[in-house]
Amino acid sequence: MIEISELVKYRRSIRKFLPQVVEPEKIDTLLKSALMAPTSKNSRSWEFVVVDDARLLQKLSLSRPMGSTLLANAPLAIVVLADPSKSDCWLEDAAIASAFLQLQAQDLGLGSCWVQVARRPHNDDITAEQYIRELLQIPGELNVVNVIAIGYKDEERRPYDEAKLAYDKIHRNQF
Ligand SMILES: Cc1cc2nc3c(=O)[nH]c(=O)nc-3n(C[C@H](O)[C@H](O)[C@H](O)COP(=O)(O)O)c2cc1C
Repeated sequence: MIEISELVKYRRSIRKFLPQVVEPEKIDTLLKSALMAPTSKNSRSWEFVVVDDARLLQKLSLSRPMGSTLLANAPLAIVVLADPSKSDCWLEDAAIASAFLQLQAQDLGLGSCWVQVARRPHNDDITAEQYIRELLQIPGELNVVNVIAIGYKDEERRPYDEAKLAYDKIHRNQF
């Protein structure tokens, strides 16, 4: 167990993964964290698709012309879906669960990266969301927000340097 202040400092987007599979217990811990994320009015407007099939991961990596290629070498992906009929805060709910997944991954010694799906094209004809909906047989009423790629790290990323944080973004009492 690592302190949260260390987790947020050391979590960096990881785009290269070892072929090593993520153990079922770790996947379970990841999913528990997502399911404990706060949601507006406790609506739990999200759904998650766990993908560990190499063929599907390869196809998911083609969701976007760029930006999703890293999924080809990830042993695990969690597709984050949201149901707008359950909450008008579906996007916020999904984003928070995604962040929980990324921090939990770091705590388990795993790397992760957010792959954006919502509002991104697959090609000139269809969206990345339509492509993934078809690939994973996702019901039409659910929105595909992102895919969180997860696995053992095959790259080193430096933690955030606290001295170099964008403190100019912080305003006190008045902007
Ligand atoms: C909403 C959102 C969308 C992102 N989309 C992608 C993406 O499609 N592909 C990708 O490789 N990284 C993506 N990222 C990761 C960001 O590039 C990364 O978080 C940012 O550069 C900061 O680096 P860090 O995560 O190492 O702190 C996304 C992150 C967020 C929060």
